[in-house]
Amino acid sequence: MNAPAPLTPARFSDGLSLSPIVAGAWRMADWGWDVAQRLRWIEQALDLGVTSFDHADIYGGYTVEALFGEALAAAPALRQRMQIVSKCGIRLVSANRSGHAIKSYDSSRAHVLASVDASLQALRTEHIDLLLIHRPDSLMDPDELADTFVQLKATGKVRAVGVSNHLPSQLAMLHRRHALVTQQIELSPLQLQALDDGTLDQCVDLGLRPMIWSPLGGGRLFTGTDPQALRVRAVLDALAAQHGVSAATIAYAWILRHPSRPVPITGSHRIEALAEAVAALGLRLSAEDWYRVWQASTGHEVA
Ligand SMILES: NC(=O)c1ccc[n+]([C@@H]2O[C@H](COP(=O)([O-])OP(=O)(O)OC[C@H]3O[C@@H](n4cnc5c(N)ncnc54)[C@H](OP(=O)(O)O)[C@@H]3O)[C@@H](O)[C@H]2O)c1
Repeated sequence: MNAPAPLTPARFSDGLSLSPIVAGAWRMADWGWDVAQRLRWIEQALDLGVTSFDHADIYGGYTVEALFGEALAAAPALRQRMQIVSKCGIRLVSANRSGHAIKSYDSSRAHVLASVDASLQALRTEHIDLLLIHRPDSLMDPDELADTFVQLKATGKVRAVGVSNHLPSQLAMLHRRHALVTQQIELSPLQLQALDDGTLDQCVDLGLRPMIWSPLGGGRLFTGTDPQALRVRAVLDALAAQHGVSAATIAYAWILRHPSRPVPITGSHRIEALAEAVAALGLRLSAEDWYRVWQASTGHEVA
């Protein structure tokens, strides 16, 4: 096995370091891989310097953490070389969770503690490096949740905590009660909302590096035939030719250009696609090129 590439770690508060590109496992159940293939993907990611893996209890209908854990059990020493991110707080109706009658959110102490225990068992690990509350729960009691975070960290089951898909006001309410280390949000050349609704402003202001999901629009950046996708793809292709890299690398560079110092999460099963994300770490787009992509996405120039 090759020595891991020396990527500069992304440092967060609370002693957390992740790789500057994180490998997402959401779609792993769809890949239809056996244990050896899953293990190979993990090892190849580690060899690229992508040492952090993004999970959620619900991925694959509550199956992905166990698929990953099964591969990890085949090479347990790998655990020391990686960081595991997982999420909880969504209750899916699933044959794997007979108690869930409707899809709902749950940030209660009982649900969060039970979810973490289930994730640890499925992932076959003693701790989760970063636990995120997956979606904002309208019934969240921020004092109870903050106290649950303290309890999880005291037991060593969770090292750091954050949120995902929360409004700035929701993040602030919880952050005042327990330090959060990140907000995981959607951002891509096809999805600009976080630039406009205060989400990224808050990340910069609080020094919370955001983690970015669907950085390629879930693949729509390359497969979409709608006008927005076509416009953006044309600009990405032109910049890719100029810089001698792939259009995917330009999309990642566009995300990385934001001053919040985002950490993108890949979604691909192809190691070459992870390498295209890593390649973007060495590419800084000019502000004009950044706005060229913005203009293609919105379909108009700035005011
Ligand atoms: N917090 C949340 O609410 C939330 C929500 C969604 C996702 N996430 C996390 O974010 C991760 C990434 O999200 P995502 O999967 O939507 O990411 P993405 O990178 O935007 O989309 C990945 C999809 O695009 C496809 N694709 C097509 N052309 C590609 C190309 N040239 N390069 C790379 N991929 C291409 C991939 O297929 P191939 O595999 O064939 O390359 C894959 O199906 C997930 O795994 C999950 O960990 C979090």
